[in-house]
Amino acid sequence: MPKDTLSITDNRTAKTYEVPIQDDTIRAMDLRQIKVKEDDFGMMTYDPAYVNTASCKSRITFIDGDKGILEYRGYPIEELAENSDYLETAYLIMNGELPSKEESDKWAADIREHTFLHENVKKLMDGFRYDAHAMGMFVSTVSALSTFYPSSKQVYDEAGRHENIHRLIAKVPLVAAFAYRHAAGMPYVYPDTELSYTGNFLRMLFMRHEAKYVPNPVLERALDVLFILHADHEQNCSTSTMRLVGSSQCDPFCSLAAAAAALYGPLHGGANEAVLRMLGEIGSKDNIPAYVERCKKGEVRLMGFGHRVYKNYDPRARIIKRTADEVFEVTGRNYLLDIAIELERIALEDDYFVKRKLYPNVDFYAGIIYQAMGFPVEMFPVLFAIPRTIGWLSQWQEMLLDKDQKIGRPRQVFLGPAKRSYVPMYQRG
Ligand code: CMC
Repeated sequence: MPKDTLSITDNRTAKTYEVPIQDDTIRAMDLRQIKVKEDDFGMMTYDPAYVNTASCKSRITFIDGDKGILEYRGYPIEELAENSDYLETAYLIMNGELPSKEESDKWAADIREHTFLHENVKKLMDGFRYDAHAMGMFVSTVSALSTFYPSSKQVYDEAGRHENIHRLIAKVPLVAAFAYRHAAGMPYVYPDTELSYTGNFLRMLFMRHEAKYVPNPVLERALDVLFILHADHEQNCSTSTMRLVGSSQCDPFCSLAAAAAALYGPLHGGANEAVLRMLGEIGSKDNIPAYVERCKKGEVRLMGFGHRVYKNYDPRARIIKRTADEVFEVTGRNYLLDIAIELERIALEDDYFVKRKLYPNVDFYAGIIYQAMGFPVEMFPVLFAIPRTIGWLSQWQEMLLDKDQKIGRPRQVFLGPAKRSYVPMYQRG
């Protein structure tokens, strides 16, 4: 009769231990009983970069990296991108179900209610240098928001927590838009809440002298689809940061700023910016083979390629490629797209990439679309952070309400040196 247990024999002692298996995992703490001597600390697992460690149980996002599947709360990403809009998807991710008409109206109204920034936030943003990176401004300003809402520390106050969730969803596009206008030396544009979430964002970014700004419906929808695709991606670097920082019961503004900082790096959300810079550096289709050779020698990475989880085509990249065609109908074709398509073709036929299962990820085409829509590269990671806000907040709330969780605290394998006595400077060699 098969049992849901794992038998482990410690060959140092010839003792066998039986530990329960649940959901194809064993509890790391069950290994602690494995000792050679009674006063040993006990066995741990060593897993740098958490490549095979589940840090939580979650009901939010499912990814099957081998099959290229991504689902939010059970709904395939392709169906959401086709039929939903960002705010509805955000509701789904946060609450677990698609909203009724009433719930949807209330969700939108609760967010609309907070669609403004305190005037002092504007002054704070004015203090940044003219060439400050938009993501640096975003991270600092989001954390500064915690000082405007000090009660946000009460993370177990349910009503207050929900209000801060609405606040953050409402305010991140404003912070992003003000960061963009600051760098462009343009006056900040206040929100128009009659527009959609993405329509209002486009207005706050790009409005010039129009009496009434009307967003281009194709670009508005394209941005909405991109926001849906970026809304959550289970336990990646930034989401794990959100959970870890949040596990100390830090307020959601500072926790989210930490998550955004994790996103900023070029191996994560900064990759879309890095892709654009890479395509610019390649410059023409003729230079692609030489660049690919440099990737294979390990001199550079093919940015926008590869993923820790997807070992098959990233399903988001497939949808983005289609969105790119729609955007280019409006904006005109970007020569970087031709380089990207050729680069993808060459890489996918190359043994190096095939053997390592390196496919285009979400960032490969996203940057080209953003550039065509008029965004400078510094805004790309910010454009990732805005929609990921709902993922971070949902995962943060799930962590707070999970009885299994407490303050996160990984272990280390200590390699020495062993204890020794302080040596005064005159005695050091
Ligand atoms: N170009 C060239 N070689 C690569 C690349 C790449 N983009 N990605 C991985 N490899 C090679 C790597 O050198 C290694 O080769 P070898 O086995 O010979 O040492 C092998 O593939 C495995 O790489 P790894 O670094 O162990 O893989 P990982 O799972 O730790 O890294 C990754 C995942 C996304 C950080 C990595 O693929 C990468 O750096 N990609 C480029 C950056 C990028 O596009 N990031 C966006 C990720 S998707 C959006 C998001 O979630 O933020």
